[in-house]
Amino acid sequence: MTKTMSVLDRTQEETGPESEDDFVRALLSKMSLEDKIGQLQQVDASGDTISDALRDAVRAGKIGAIINQVDPSVCDAFQKIAVEESPHGIPLLIGRDVIHGFKTIFPIPLGQAATWNPELIEACARVSAEEASAAGVNWTFSPMIDISRDARWGRIAESFGEDPFLTATLGASMIRGYQGEDLSAPNTIAACAKHFVGYGASESGRDYDTTNIPLNELHNIYLPPFKAAADAGVATFMTSFGDIDGVPASGNEYILKNVLRESWQYDGLVVSDWDSVRQLSVHGLTDGDRNAAKEAVSAGVDMEMAGSAYAAHLADLVADGEIDLSRVNELTENVLRLKFRLGLFSAPYARPEACTLPCAQEKLDLAKQAAIESTVLLENKGGLLPLDASRMNRVAVIGPMSDQPYEQLGTWIFDGDEALSQTPLAAFRASLPAHVQLDYVQTLETTRARDTDDFEAAKLAATNADIAFVFLGEESILSGEAHSRADINLPGAQSALLEQLSATGTPVVCVIMAGRPLTISDVVENSDAVLFAWHGGTMSGPALYELIFGLASPSGRLPVTFPKMVGQIPIYYNHKSTGRPASDNQITHIDDIEVGAKQTSFGMTAFHLDAGFRPLFPFGFGLSYGKIVYDDLQLDRHQISPNESIRISARITNCGKYAASETAQLYIRDVAASVTRPVRELKSFQKIHLQPGETETVVFELTERDLAFYRRNKSVGTEPGEFQVWVGANADAGLTARFVLEA
Ligand code: GLC
Repeated sequence: MTKTMSVLDRTQEETGPESEDDFVRALLSKMSLEDKIGQLQQVDASGDTISDALRDAVRAGKIGAIINQVDPSVCDAFQKIAVEESPHGIPLLIGRDVIHGFKTIFPIPLGQAATWNPELIEACARVSAEEASAAGVNWTFSPMIDISRDARWGRIAESFGEDPFLTATLGASMIRGYQGEDLSAPNTIAACAKHFVGYGASESGRDYDTTNIPLNELHNIYLPPFKAAADAGVATFMTSFGDIDGVPASGNEYILKNVLRESWQYDGLVVSDWDSVRQLSVHGLTDGDRNAAKEAVSAGVDMEMAGSAYAAHLADLVADGEIDLSRVNELTENVLRLKFRLGLFSAPYARPEACTLPCAQEKLDLAKQAAIESTVLLENKGGLLPLDASRMNRVAVIGPMSDQPYEQLGTWIFDGDEALSQTPLAAFRASLPAHVQLDYVQTLETTRARDTDDFEAAKLAATNADIAFVFLGEESILSGEAHSRADINLPGAQSALLEQLSATGTPVVCVIMAGRPLTISDVVENSDAVLFAWHGGTMSGPALYELIFGLASPSGRLPVTFPKMVGQIPIYYNHKSTGRPASDNQITHIDDIEVGAKQTSFGMTAFHLDAGFRPLFPFGFGLSYGKIVYDDLQLDRHQISPNESIRISARITNCGKYAASETAQLYIRDVAASVTRPVRELKSFQKIHLQPGETETVVFELTERDLAFYRRNKSVGTEPGEFQVWVGANADAGLTARFVLEA
C-alpha cells in the first residue's frame, strides 16, 4: 500500500507535534458544515465490493464510518479513498459486532460471566481484538453491559447477567482486552459500552419494548456498569433502542448530557443504535426525521448508525437556526478525537502483520479454558461426576445439541469459523479410550423438533450403555437480538426424550447448551448430573469432555437467577425486602393446599402459591467436585467511621477428594436507609483453587465507597446505620455478621 502523506503528517509538518485537542481543532477549522456532517454518518458497507454510490460518498467526505465490512482488502480500499481522495483525507472508523470472538469464538458473554474471572475475559477480548484488527476492523460494539433480570429477553445472552458489580467488573475487563494499553497500537480496537441505558428492563422481556425505570433503580442498578466502563476508558457508548420513562435513549438529554457528559465528564464518542434516531418518530417522541435529528443532536448522539436523518436535515437545521453550529462542531470533534486516539491519521490501514494467526492453537486453548470455566455444574447426584473413562465400556451420546458446530457458537458470531468448532460428539470420539464403544443417536433433528421416531433407538442406546450423555438446549437462533421467548422450557420434545431416557435406569449426564436461563426443574429431576454450558463457543466439546471425565473441575457460578417457572419473572437476588417477605415454610405447589383451606392459612407474604418465592438456582450458584466448607468469619471491627475500611475474612476448606475452584462472594445489606435497599448486594468476589484438604483464608476490604448509593436526596453517598455482611458460595448462602457505619 503506497503511503501518502497522511493528514497527521501534513499537519505536523506544518505545525510540529501537537496535542490531540490542537490537532482536532486545527482539522475542524478547515472543515465546512457539509464536511462535519459527513463525519457523523456510519453506513452499512457489507458486501464483497464497494458500490459506486459508497465510493462517491466516501470520496466526497460524506461518510465518517462504515459497518459490517471485514475483508481487509475492501476495508483498505475504503480507507484509501478516504485518505487520498476525500476533501481532508480523514480516515474511516470501521465497526463490527465482535461480541464474543471474531474467528475464534468464546462462550457467549453470559457464559463468560459465569467464569467470574476478569483476567480470563480480558484475555479473550484481547484475542478478539487481534483477529478483528487484522481484518481491518478498528471498532467493536462490545461490551454489552445491560443489566439483565429477565430470561425471556433474547439479549440476556449478550449480557453479563443481573448484577451491577459483576457486570461492571467484567465489562471493564473486556474493555481493557479490546483497547489494550494503547488504542493506537496495530492490534487494538475501540470498545463500545452498550446499550446506554436500561435496555434489559424491556417489558415482559420483549426486545425493544418499553422500559419504566425510576431514578433510584436507574442510578443504583442500571447506570453503575456504564460508569465503570467510562472510568475504564471505554472509547465509545451506544444508545439503547429503549423508551426510558417516555424519552427514548437516542433523544434522552438526561442520560446523554446530564449524566454522561456533565456528571461523568465523558469525552468519548456516542453512536446511535441501528437507525434508532429515525425511530424516535416511531416511538412518538418526534414527528419525522427532521425533528428526530434535532432531538438526537440536542441530546448528544454524535454519530448516526445506519440512518439518514442527520445527512438529510442537519444542514437545514443549522441554517434555520434550530441547531447551533457549535453543537455540530462538538459532535464532529468527538468523532475526530476518536480517530486521533486510534492512530488512524497516521496508520489507517489493516495491520494483519501485527496479529497472530486467527484460531492459532494458543487461541483455541484459551477458548477451551473459557468454555471450561463458564460451565456450571448444577446437579451431581451421588457424586456421579467426575467419571473415570478407563472404567467405561459402552456409552451413549444422545440429543440434538451433541454435534452442532454452528449452534454451539451462540448468537452474534458473524465471523466465527464453524469449521473449527469442536462438538461434544467429536471430542468424545477423539478422546475416549479405544476400548469404549460409543453409540450416537441425535434423536431430534433440532432442539425444536417434535418427531419422536428415534426415541426407541435412543432408549436402546441408553439401555445398552454404562452412562447416557444427553446434550439438549436451544439452537442459537432462539436467543439474541429480537429473539425473546415467552416460554423458557426446553423447546420441542427434549423434555419428553430426557424423561424416557431417565426411565431406562441408565445414569444420565445432561448438558444444556442455551443462550439464557431455562426452566429446567424437569431436567434436574430426570438427570443424575446437570452441566449448564451456555453456548460455549469453538471449543465447547473438548471442554465438556474434560469436565465430565475429571481432566478439569467445574467452577462456573451463575451470573443470573434461574427461575422455577417463567411466571416468577422478574426474579433476581438483589430484590427489595417488601413489607411482607416470604419464608421457607410457604407452600410451593397448589396440590399442597388442603380442601377448604382458610383465606389466611398460608401467611400473607410475597410468594406464588404454585412456586413459593425461591428460584430454582440462585445467583452465584454452582457446584464443584470438591466439598467446600466456609467457617471462621471475622470482622476486624464492628464499627467504622466514614473514612475507615473494614476487613472481612473467612476460612474456606476443601473437605473433598478432588481439587476444586471456589468463588467466595461478599454481599452486604444496608439494613435501613433513606430509600429501601436490596436484601443483598454483591460487593466483591475471589476465585480460589483448593487441593483436597487444603484451607485458604479469603480477605475482603470494604470501604465507604462500597457502601455508597443513590439516595432519596438524589445524591450518591453513604448513610450511617447497621449493615449485614455475608461471605459465601452464592446469594442464598453464607456466613453472616453485622457492623455499624457511624455518622
Ligand atoms: C443492532 C444491535 C446493536 C449492534 C448494532 C450493529 O441492532 O442493537 O447491539 O451493535 O445493531 O450491528
